[in-house]
Amino acid sequence: MKLAKVIAAATAATMLLAAPVMAEGTLKFATNPEFPPFEFITAEGVIDTYDGIDMAIAKMIAEDNDMEVSMESLEFDSLLVALQNGQVDAIIAGMTITDERKEAVDFCIPYYTATQVMIVKEDSDITCAADMADKKICVIQGYTGEICVNEMGYPYEAFKKGTEAVMELVNGKCDVVVIDSATAAKYVSDNEGLKIVEDAEAFEAEEYGIAIAKGHEDLVEKINASIEKFLEDGTIAALAVEYTEAEADADAE
Ligand code: ARG
Repeated sequence: MKLAKVIAAATAATMLLAAPVMAEGTLKFATNPEFPPFEFITAEGVIDTYDGIDMAIAKMIAEDNDMEVSMESLEFDSLLVALQNGQVDAIIAGMTITDERKEAVDFCIPYYTATQVMIVKEDSDITCAADMADKKICVIQGYTGEICVNEMGYPYEAFKKGTEAVMELVNGKCDVVVIDSATAAKYVSDNEGLKIVEDAEAFEAEEYGIAIAKGHEDLVEKINASIEKFLEDGTIAALAVEYTEAEADADAE
């Protein structure tokens, strides 16, 4: 009995030591892991099976604030609702900061600049956004690409996932997919016979930001301080290179 008590006490002491010294809890993130190179599922990711630029950033932000990190997978459309419900603390999902979204949630400072581009077949005659007028256009539901095409007034079909829209294109069922630049580059390198067409005049630059429920200024400040640091010391730029090069290497094999 006495020995058991000693063991129990020793075990408890070990557990205390093993716990992060300054841990203030867990920073609960949600994402939609269908957006490489920012978030995708893999056998061994940086957070459980979640991997990508955003996942590495989320982990670094938590570590920088002496917190644990957790990641949850949701439909892109459900992310902001989960934030408003208090189901999670933060969204990191290659999410573009828009005025409309800012009405629902707060955004931390931008950490990445992107733009919408058009993915087309290599022999396509589309050279600018206006050329989409009489073409069959695919977008992803709820993405800023859908908002852009909608504002241009062109009819389109919306898919749940980028891969589904790209399959439509590969199978010749549509002429163009409008999606974010880095994700487009990944799809083009993964599929034969596709290319990217840019139109900087039609598609404005977009900035990605981490979203937080309104009324949590302290959390926004903490995350901003970390992001500022990682932007200044080049960590985020290095991650972007790492995740796009890893891709190129894998394709070269
Ligand atoms: N940047 C685009 C947007 O904010 C697409 C983001 C998609 N992200 C994702 N994790 N599925 O609408």
